[in-house]
Amino acid sequence: MSSEFNNSIRRMMNIKQHLIPDHHPIHGSSSFSQPLLIELNETAASNTVPSSSSVMNSPTLVSSSSNPSSSSEKRYIEVKDSKSGKIIKINVEEGDAIKSVAFEQLNLVCLDPGFMNTAIARSSISYIDGEKGILRYRGYDIEELAEKSSFLEVAFLLINGELPDRNQLSLWEDRVTKHSYLHENMVTLLKQFRYDAHPMGMVISSVAALGTFYEDANPALQGADLYLKGEGKDPIKIDQLRFKQIYRLLGKLPTIASCAYRHRIGKPYNNPVNNLTYTGNFLYMLDRLSETNYHPNPVLARALEKLWIIHAEHEMNCSTAAMRHLSSSRVDPYTAIAGAGGALYGPLHGGACEAVLHMLEEIGTKENIPKFIEDVKNRKKKLMGFGHRIYRSYDPRAKIVKQVADEVFEILGKEPMIEIAIELEKIALNDPYFKERKLYPNVDFYSGLVYKALGFPTDYYPVLFLIPRVAGWLAHWIESLEDPDVKIFRPKQVYTGIEHRKYIPVNHRKPAQTKNATALKSFISPMSKRRSNE
Ligand SMILES: CC(C)(COP(=O)(O)OP(=O)(O)OC[C@H]1O[C@@H](n2cnc3c(N)ncnc32)[C@H](O)[C@@H]1OP(=O)(O)O)[C@@H](O)C(=O)NCCC(=O)NCCS
Repeated sequence: MSSEFNNSIRRMMNIKQHLIPDHHPIHGSSSFSQPLLIELNETAASNTVPSSSSVMNSPTLVSSSSNPSSSSEKRYIEVKDSKSGKIIKINVEEGDAIKSVAFEQLNLVCLDPGFMNTAIARSSISYIDGEKGILRYRGYDIEELAEKSSFLEVAFLLINGELPDRNQLSLWEDRVTKHSYLHENMVTLLKQFRYDAHPMGMVISSVAALGTFYEDANPALQGADLYLKGEGKDPIKIDQLRFKQIYRLLGKLPTIASCAYRHRIGKPYNNPVNNLTYTGNFLYMLDRLSETNYHPNPVLARALEKLWIIHAEHEMNCSTAAMRHLSSSRVDPYTAIAGAGGALYGPLHGGACEAVLHMLEEIGTKENIPKFIEDVKNRKKKLMGFGHRIYRSYDPRAKIVKQVADEVFEILGKEPMIEIAIELEKIALNDPYFKERKLYPNVDFYSGLVYKALGFPTDYYPVLFLIPRVAGWLAHWIESLEDPDVKIFRPKQVYTGIEHRKYIPVNHRKPAQTKNATALKSFISPMSKRRSNE
């Protein structure tokens, strides 16, 4: 490592430490929740009160107490098990949270498939008010960030907790852009994909492969606590190591994604350039042919940047929870991001904007909308790009995407399918089925149309979601590394299988009565049938 590099990293770390107040959780010294937790555990949390009241079929919430005026009296709930008659008190902690581990006192587990009401961490990165349609990153409204900030500024905010000043931003941009080149072996690896490989599969596996280039970054080789601070360790060096991976990932993701794109269209890959914005450089790598001084359209680059800002983070969704899940095993961040990318790929998550386009293509004309809506209400179809687990009024990001759509259409012409989308939205929003279920357009409803107008192939949309979301995942990675409450994720299950069986040797067994019996004989290609001589 050059001394110039060391100096810049040191400067960066000094800035970061100056930026973030000592009490901030990023310093790891004191989590905002920890003192409170100790106090609560010492008071009422483990109290059990025997009761002689009548036996009921299930535990009941007996009472809930709260007295905000008295600092000595903590809010708690009482839960009574109707079987044993036992009552436990569970303290209500910061954020109106109760610890489900408290139910162990009643030998009960909390069953929550889909995490409908389970928080897996305390986080100060982003905030959503689903009823009011509010999204904030570190306290800043998403609308203001999309309008006024650059993507890298927002990435800095998410990861470091504060907006950078001019010098900090320049340094941050410099570090990220100077980590945008790929190792030639990585380029060779990308070239081995089939010409028609799904770009998301290419990007996810390439990010996992990227980790193999950095021995220094791999806890499997360097020790499980590689990224953790602690006794005998220099916290500055740990921060530097963490930020080295952050720069590499933010820097190289657009390069990998552009290689995947060029691979599909059979064009040579472009190396990144340092004199353009984050999205400008990305468009350059996608589009430059033989021009010596190619510059992407600045309005389109800015439109893409706005889309990336609103996609950068979205609290504890499926892929971010996956990022936290993988990180809890202390695996390297490249593998964790590949895993989170896998979650994002799914059609109910980041794959939805791709699915919206397929849906609009299938509908084809405005005349077919009523029939489609009927099919949705009869549960034959799903209205992709509608509905959200958290937003119960509008998704604030969808509004921004609509504005961006106008900016893009102004230059590139209206995407014809927008008419179908607008009509579909109008009909759905006036239909009691959607109204009653509070189903509104989400971010994916219009973003696919913007990406289509921008000329991206449909299967590339999830990649355009993944690149910016890496910033959010890295913010969660850092936050989880600093969180003293984090343990390896190990959810429980409720076992519903056979308790115990006697083993029978294979020659004495009857055919297995399994519902998968037909699947075992699933599709055999004519080629395999010919080869097997059956
Ligand atoms: C996002 C999503 C997965 C959230 O799911 P969820 O919080 O588990 O909500 P549910 O699936 O329980 O939906 C609640 C009700 O609305 C209905 N519903 C939800 N989304 C719907 C949609 N897109 N089209 C039609 N009906 C929908 C469900 O059928 C259910 O109706 P019911 O109560 O009569 O059974 C879901 O809305 C969805 O699949 N949307 C389409 C995919 C999409 O756009 N994803 C991107 C999210 S940013």
